[in-house]
Amino acid sequence: MSIANHELFQDDILETQSPGFTNEQVKDIAKNLFGLTGDLLPLDSERDQNFQISEEDGDRFVIKIANSAEEPAIIDMQIKALEHIARVDPELPVPRVLLSRNGLAIEQIQAENGTKHFVRILTYLPGVPPKDESTNPALLRPVGACLARLSRALRGFFHPIANYELLWDLKHTSKLRQYLPHITDPDHHKLVSYFLDRFDRNVLPLIPKLRAQIVHNDLVPDNLLVAKDDPGRIVGIIDFGDMVHTLLIIDLATTIAATLRGHADPVGEAAEIVAGYNEIIQLEESELRILYDLIAARLTMLNVIASWRVTLHPDNEEYITGGMGETWHTLKAWRAKDPTEVTRKFFRVCGLWEVEELNPTLKEANETIQSHLLRRARLLGPSTYLFYERPLHIVRGEGVWLYDDDGNRYLDAYNNVAHVGHCHPHVVNAIAKQAGRLNTSTRYMHGLILELAEQITKRMPEALSVCMFVCTGSEANELAWQMSKLVSGNSGALITKFSYHGSCTATKQFSTESIPLEKSPSHVHSLFAPTSNTTFRKPNSGISDAIIAMDEQGHQPAMLILDTAFVSDGIYTSPKGYLKTVYAKARAAGGLCIADEVQPGFGRLGQHFWGFEYDDVIPDIVTLGKPMGNGHPLAAVVTRPEIAEVLAKETGYFNTFGGNPVSCAAGLAVLEVIEKEALQRNAFEVGQHLTERLAALQKDYPVIGEIHGSGLLQGINIVKPDGALDPEMADRIMNHMRENGVLVGTTGQHYPIIKIRPPIVFKKEHADILLAALLKALDEL
Ligand SMILES: Cc1ncc(COP(=O)(O)O)c(C=O)c1O
Repeated sequence: MSIANHELFQDDILETQSPGFTNEQVKDIAKNLFGLTGDLLPLDSERDQNFQISEEDGDRFVIKIANSAEEPAIIDMQIKALEHIARVDPELPVPRVLLSRNGLAIEQIQAENGTKHFVRILTYLPGVPPKDESTNPALLRPVGACLARLSRALRGFFHPIANYELLWDLKHTSKLRQYLPHITDPDHHKLVSYFLDRFDRNVLPLIPKLRAQIVHNDLVPDNLLVAKDDPGRIVGIIDFGDMVHTLLIIDLATTIAATLRGHADPVGEAAEIVAGYNEIIQLEESELRILYDLIAARLTMLNVIASWRVTLHPDNEEYITGGMGETWHTLKAWRAKDPTEVTRKFFRVCGLWEVEELNPTLKEANETIQSHLLRRARLLGPSTYLFYERPLHIVRGEGVWLYDDDGNRYLDAYNNVAHVGHCHPHVVNAIAKQAGRLNTSTRYMHGLILELAEQITKRMPEALSVCMFVCTGSEANELAWQMSKLVSGNSGALITKFSYHGSCTATKQFSTESIPLEKSPSHVHSLFAPTSNTTFRKPNSGISDAIIAMDEQGHQPAMLILDTAFVSDGIYTSPKGYLKTVYAKARAAGGLCIADEVQPGFGRLGQHFWGFEYDDVIPDIVTLGKPMGNGHPLAAVVTRPEIAEVLAKETGYFNTFGGNPVSCAAGLAVLEVIEKEALQRNAFEVGQHLTERLAALQKDYPVIGEIHGSGLLQGINIVKPDGALDPEMADRIMNHMRENGVLVGTTGQHYPIIKIRPPIVFKKEHADILLAALLKALDEL
């Protein structure tokens, strides 16, 4: 056999008889080569010949005479591995290597028939074999932990022979098919074929991608010794004969399969071993996903190899087939388990909770959408409605793409929170890095909060130099409201006709999308957003009437709050003069002017970074949210120092989570990505492309009415032949596009306007996909 090609397939070792030295011969070898003279006791071995030698002084050793077909390099690897382990983790209870009188770890001897054998001597480890592992659950976790520690010790070890092809290496499970003719029972044949098929389908493609190193590959109860007085304490690891370079997870599967035999609760016990292992080496999701199949593969392998070997060595039948019945039994029991449930259990003991979210192929097979929805309504209450007639179960996001639990992908033209793209690696890394370092409140000095405040305020008009951090847009607007009342001494709020500013008590009252105008309290009055179908453009917004109506009910304006992209009103960028006019009127009546930039801010509109910049105004307070942390809850209130001072003097302000270092790291990362990837310019260019293409479509499809908004925030009116808005058709178009893999929403009163509001990494080619889906909807509806 050549060592150089590392492709040694060791069938011949399994086919070759064990060495047959007599006790007397072995005594001579021990004495002449190693200077040992103690009593000899033969030990069991599958392919070698092993003896225990007990010296008079109490020292005990094991003499191992290798099978003549054993490759010397493999023995060399085992010796070097033991020396390596002794160096890096001396506490691990592995045997030490005894050098011969010639100073060698391995000597060569010759049998009477002329065959040559390598012989070596290791220290004998104290302890007893675990008596009946199935009655000792206390051993399960320690076995897992012990295996992981051993692998950790071997992490830095290498040997040129390690990549040889060993039949017992589960990587080669597919090769077991050649031995199937030796399985005569048709049920067994079916069972084995089932698991071999699963292996080929689920495991084989992943092998090149998973963690691999030299591992023990046979850490089974038979190769362990435990303390006599404490059967849960492992005091010896023996038999490194199957060491090989293979997947880490194969090593664990091998141990589990051997430990399971005869157990009543195989999944629970396997999970205990996994948990023990995971305490030392954290298992990866992809490893856990194939563990069920690898355990089955090992049980399959034990049965197939034994069925084949017994035909080669009928005289050794008892040794070879011992335990086979039990292994078949375990394999059948394993087949009866639901692989998804088993994998979920493994995930859970490793601290991973949502197996179906992590692995689309392991989706809850039994849970229909209907039962999920019922469960959701029961647990979350009826207020948490879902988008689309056929709701989506999204499990993963990347850039402008979302993936559902069936692996379908959707172009996301709706979610503005994932501003710089779903799971942008720079933001994800920033969050993870800071989360691993420190997360506290603003009660301590920290650099990141100052850095983020500087980055935000430097993008604002000079007067707005104070930045207060909160967690949501609602909180930001609540704080703006508190400040406005304190500073103005007034109690009224001016909003637009179909507004949304949040979900807290005060902000909900400023949200006519939630509480309709006719139910608004007396301190809340409304003006028209700058839509083309209102009276504003020529000539007014109705703000003067609103102020008068408010006054009649005993309130003067504390604030005018406007979403500067008027998203819930229908998506409109402020035409020149609108903000200037209404700000002037609100201020004249004593109110402060709040720019709610929760939707438009951070470059989405393309031409400007903030929505209020479309007009010649400086707000008194600017509120920020949604895109600020790319999904991490982060929001802020930016204002003039004198306004912040009034609040500090009157009530002060504290927000437990607002401005925590992790949130600030997220916020800074978002700003960095916007700059580095020139995303404001992208929003401008792609927005223009989108508007042009939509305008072209408008000519052929009268259902497309006015198109409004700017950059990557655009609304399309859906209209009837008589020009009236058509909410029903808008809803059908939205659902049709969802069925074709493009996600949009609807907005405006009664929702007759298609809302396009993607992450701003949305490129022209994405806009074209969106347009194709829209066209298809228009053609087919
Ligand atoms: C314009 C505007 N302001 C405020 C909010 C409230 O933000 P949050 O949901 O983070 O409380 C929203 C949320 O949709 C919004 O669109």
